[in-house]
Amino acid sequence: MEPQRIYLNSDLPISLRAYRTSPINEQEIQKQVNEMLDMRARIVAGEKVLITSAAGGVGHIAVQWAKAAECHVIGTCSSEEKEQVLKELGCDRIINYKQEDVAGVLAKEYEGGVDVVWETIGGEMLETCLANLAQNGRIVIVGGISSYKNANAVSSKMDVPSIVLAKAASLLGFRRGSYRECFSTYFKHLTQHFQEGKLKTIIDNGEKSTGNEFFGMEGIIRGVEYLQSGKSIGKVVARLH
Ligand SMILES: NC(=O)c1ccc[n+]([C@@H]2O[C@H](COP(=O)([O-])OP(=O)(O)OC[C@H]3O[C@@H](n4cnc5c(N)ncnc54)[C@H](OP(=O)(O)O)[C@@H]3O)[C@@H](O)[C@H]2O)c1
Repeated sequence: MEPQRIYLNSDLPISLRAYRTSPINEQEIQKQVNEMLDMRARIVAGEKVLITSAAGGVGHIAVQWAKAAECHVIGTCSSEEKEQVLKELGCDRIINYKQEDVAGVLAKEYEGGVDVVWETIGGEMLETCLANLAQNGRIVIVGGISSYKNANAVSSKMDVPSIVLAKAASLLGFRRGSYRECFSTYFKHLTQHFQEGKLKTIIDNGEKSTGNEFFGMEGIIRGVEYLQSGKSIGKVVARLH
């Protein structure tokens, strides 16, 4: 029988692919999830996975995801508080880019390059990732927050085609909207992991840092500004009612 492809994806950083020849059941899903076949980055145990904005909303889940797949996880962040969070999540190498030069650390400590990058910043950070990518490496582009407020910030002198060619690398875009049909299945799986304490989620509703929860339409505006301030930890959430 021709294998049927199913996609177990959602708003999750690293998505899954599985194949089946019979009706799917919970056990099978679990097995596939444990196998961690990743559709975009195809991470496998032992690979070096670099996650930018690792203490961010998407990033802190990506760290746990890659750790669960037994990868060596490198996370970038910008404060000591975020460093602490990443330590607790099991990040193997934390690079606080306000204190250390990301390119320098990668060149020195990861001579052969990193295998996979989960990238949400863009600009210089993306260039650094590309320059320090291993042969056959994959960069999953999830966002580009460094240019959201200033489109002119995107200017690269890098010869991207030559580097991609030389490294036989892949640049992959990830859009959550492309995997809508998988949301419910995946949501169930995540909820289970969350309830079992295997997945930690960090919510930042603004209260701790600004004194007030992000609330209503005005709260959404404050929340977006806060998200772009670089101070948030975990997923920034605004409550509508
Ligand atoms: N493709 C998709 O389907 C999808 C879905 C959801 C979100 N996204 C994108 O994924 C990214 C992550 O989303 P998120 O909600 O989890 O946000 P986030 O990562 O929590 O974003 C905020 C963090 O970005 C980091 N950052 C780095 N450079 C920055 C700069 N120049 N200006 C502001 N912040 C900077 C800061 O942390 P550090 O400085 O500590 O690194 C900041 O705390 C965003 O770009 C978002 O648009 C994509």
